[in-house]
Amino acid sequence: MSIKVLIDENTIKKRIKELAKEITDYYKQYTDTIHAVGVLKGSVHFFSELILNIDLNVKYSFVHVSSYQGSTSTGRIRVKSWIDESIEDEYVLVIEDIVDTGLTLRYILKYLRKYRPKDLKVVTFLEKTVCDHGVDLDFVGFKIGNVFVVGYGLDYNEKYRNLPYVGYIE
Ligand code: IMP
Ligand code: MG
Repeated sequence: MSIKVLIDENTIKKRIKELAKEITDYYKQYTDTIHAVGVLKGSVHFFSELILNIDLNVKYSFVHVSSYQGSTSTGRIRVKSWIDESIEDEYVLVIEDIVDTGLTLRYILKYLRKYRPKDLKVVTFLEKTVCDHGVDLDFVGFKIGNVFVVGYGLDYNEKYRNLPYVGYIE
């Protein structure tokens, strides 16, 4: 299988810097501290690069949730680990790799809301615009079409996560 570049490394870095500024500017009006909740495993590189560019105090939590096998959603969510810090009354920013059907994110948001955060926002690295996923995304890195992408954290059966760019399988 050969991988074609969809979004190159420089374009990713540049967009993440812009996104971090948008996010910093938004929160600065309200708070100096936010609580980031990274969705494992796909968001690791995006999470890290984004937060290194956010000019606020950032607390870290992670959830590990999966629904995919190969390149198709199983439609069932498996929670492998969950947040270990309280988010009650905090400004929470969920950091996701990609939103496709929205199933994963809807599930995560539903349960995080129960802890009564002061504010709950979402940033996703990629958004697939094919599905009407129905999730309110506050910040989006890139919108892409109906392609299965890998790299920059995203996998196909656990492969290709460490490619420094976003590619698609031909
Ligand atoms: P959703 O629940 O359908 O929105 O899918 C979201 C999750 O499925 C993401 O967090 C990814 O882990 C995975 N996923 C969806 N599309 C892709 C893709 O094109 N490449 C790799 N993983 C994907
Ligand atoms: Mg994911």
